[in-house]
Amino acid sequence: MPHPHPTPPLEGLQAQLGALTALLRDHAPLWRPRPFIEAHPAWTRDLPALAAWLEGLSPEAIDALDADPAAAPHDAPAAWEALRRAAAQAAAVPEAPPAPRAALPDPLRARVPPRKWAQLEAFAAQVHPCPQATSLLDWCAGKGHLGRALAASLGLPVLHVERQRPLCAQGAALDAEAGVCGGYHTADVLRGPPLPSPPPAAPLAVALHACGVLTDTLLRLAVAQGWPALFAAPCCYHMLGGAAAWRPLSAAGAASGLELDPRELRLAIYDEVIASPVERAARRRQMAWRLAVDLLVREASGRDAYHTLGNLSAETWHLPFDAFARQTADARGYPLPPRFDPAQALRRGEERAHRARALALVRGLFRRPLEVWLVLDRALLLAEAGRPVTVQTFCPTHLTPRNLMIASRLLA
Ligand SMILES: C[S@@+](CC[C@H](N)C(=O)[O-])C[C@H]1O[C@@H](n2cnc3c(N)ncnc32)[C@H](O)[C@@H]1O
Repeated sequence: MPHPHPTPPLEGLQAQLGALTALLRDHAPLWRPRPFIEAHPAWTRDLPALAAWLEGLSPEAIDALDADPAAAPHDAPAAWEALRRAAAQAAAVPEAPPAPRAALPDPLRARVPPRKWAQLEAFAAQVHPCPQATSLLDWCAGKGHLGRALAASLGLPVLHVERQRPLCAQGAALDAEAGVCGGYHTADVLRGPPLPSPPPAAPLAVALHACGVLTDTLLRLAVAQGWPALFAAPCCYHMLGGAAAWRPLSAAGAASGLELDPRELRLAIYDEVIASPVERAARRRQMAWRLAVDLLVREASGRDAYHTLGNLSAETWHLPFDAFARQTADARGYPLPPRFDPAQALRRGEERAHRARALALVRGLFRRPLEVWLVLDRALLLAEAGRPVTVQTFCPTHLTPRNLMIASRLLA
């Protein structure tokens, strides 16, 4: 069966990576500083009208613009629209053409939460089998829902690879229950052999949300072993698997000169599309409390720099604010003013958090361009090795914001 989508040539991927590199390089002062840490990023002096407009937005308007930057009210400054358009244009990725819903066996659905099932259906609909593939490889499989559903619908045996033993055991039981010819290889794919011996000969590999370096490991294996087909939707680009620094995967990525630290890599996944209202409210409150303590410490120490509180236990967040401030500052050896009004400190923290969220909207415009850059870099690793490859979105963001799929299928 011919591949239904034309394969963009290597040059097409390189050209888009180049355009994104230029966008990210030219606008680095807008997306590298984090307003949560840096209260007055330098760009606010260069674009005062934009900064003032953002700071005047209500919390609801900030949420709305964060979810959809194109939905700006009419009084938005021209700079917002210009930046938004430039970012959206450079990061445009085609939607995968509508495919008939994958015929995933219904009995498996009962075991999978509804949103995850919809993700699996959308992903599976883009997995086009090829005659050379004699088995499926479900990479970083978790309980193996994707590999199992594909195995049942395509009639191929599946090997799931997963590090966590309990997930392997649960997945193996689910395979047996579904009557699927499956097997689990329990392995840490970053340490030790990622595949059993002998390895699957000509697998069609799928990887749904294998974090950062886990997807990269699969891509390298597919290139080295000439696997017939591979479909991967990466996530958590900041997961470097213990590497000291981030490096691009492709020659084109390396030649771009783009340098990113793990904090900057996190920007690519910092969206709240699927966060529940409760999670959002908790995040807002935590942001305000951290900043309230930071302001108190700045006042007491005279040191005008952000004071991190690090990771905090769940119990800490249940303390009243004054106890929270004393405990967390104490743990870090930070001074606090001998007396402070907790209500006033919190108000100041909330104002500061509101301002940080408002200014961070500009940074947010570069979230998708950065993510698309990181996915294109991975796709280019395959294209530079002579493989056909496409990058497309496989589902709407409300099913998962990590909706970019790298597909590479050798022609028969
Ligand atoms: C985000 S989950 C995705 C699971 C599944 N593909 C899905 O979409 O439901 C990532 C999986 O990778 C596994 N994993 C993480 N690090 C791993 C490693 N070093 N080797 C093998 N599996 C790993 C985790 O245990 C987890 O099940």
